Amino acid sequence: WGKTGHRATAEIAEKHLTQKARKAIDSLLDGYGLAFVANYADDIKSDPEYRKYGPWHYVNIHPEAEKYIVEEASESGDLVQAIRKCKEVLSDDNASRAEKQFHLKMLVHFMGDLHQPFHVGHASDKGGNDIQVRWFNEGSNIHRVWDSDMIDFYQMSYTELAINTKELSKAQVKSIQKGKLLDWVYESREMAEELYDGVESGDKLGYTYMYHHMPTVLAQLQKGGLRLAKILNEIYS
Ligand code: ADE
Ligand code: ZN
Ligand code: ZN
Repeated sequence: WGKTGHRATAEIAEKHLTQKARKAIDSLLDGYGLAFVANYADDIKSDPEYRKYGPWHYVNIHPEAEKYIVEEASESGDLVQAIRKCKEVLSDDNASRAEKQFHLKMLVHFMGDLHQPFHVGHASDKGGNDIQVRWFNEGSNIHRVWDSDMIDFYQMSYTELAINTKELSKAQVKSIQKGKLLDWVYESREMAEELYDGVESGDKLGYTYMYHHMPTVLAQLQKGGLRLAKILNEIYS
């Protein structure tokens, strides 16, 4: 996602934290909210010192592969290994405060990216980045349409987006939070396959595409937030 999407996911997570998690995070982030740190992982990308974290934002599982196998995964790291690492550091009593702070900021971001379907897309087209499309007659690509073009066109703040996600019962929240990291990876991967089927290079996309897919965008931001909260609540239980 772009900046607004990541902040919306963080804001939704914020509202589903237990008191214990809230307190621990408050202390780790010096009182700043999750939305404030949600784009840190993108902001450090231009710094050569942090270049190695570039591949942590996505995971490309081969279309023919049945499942994700860590031994066959990218050695430079990927989104699955990134989230596992963040959880590990945050749960490690021997990790320093600075290390925990860094990996918390990264985790908030990565749980967002996990729910952008094209971050679990094909390596061959860089998760849709190489599929050029027209967006309201301007040049774009299908990855960017999903990262930010649709969300930006709405011109809603991240708090408005967070409020405009569906109101859910406790049972519905529980159902979304069910499962493990790889279940959520496969869910995004399946969504990506469907979205790949619905687009071709050179397509002219605009309001029809947006109104068809915006409910899915909102649902994905919400899932990311609820599942981020689940992970944090477990770490700080
Ligand atoms: N961004 C850059 N490369 C990517 C890829 N292979 N998949 C998803 N997002 C990306
Ligand atoms: Zn992206
Ligand atoms: Zn990212």
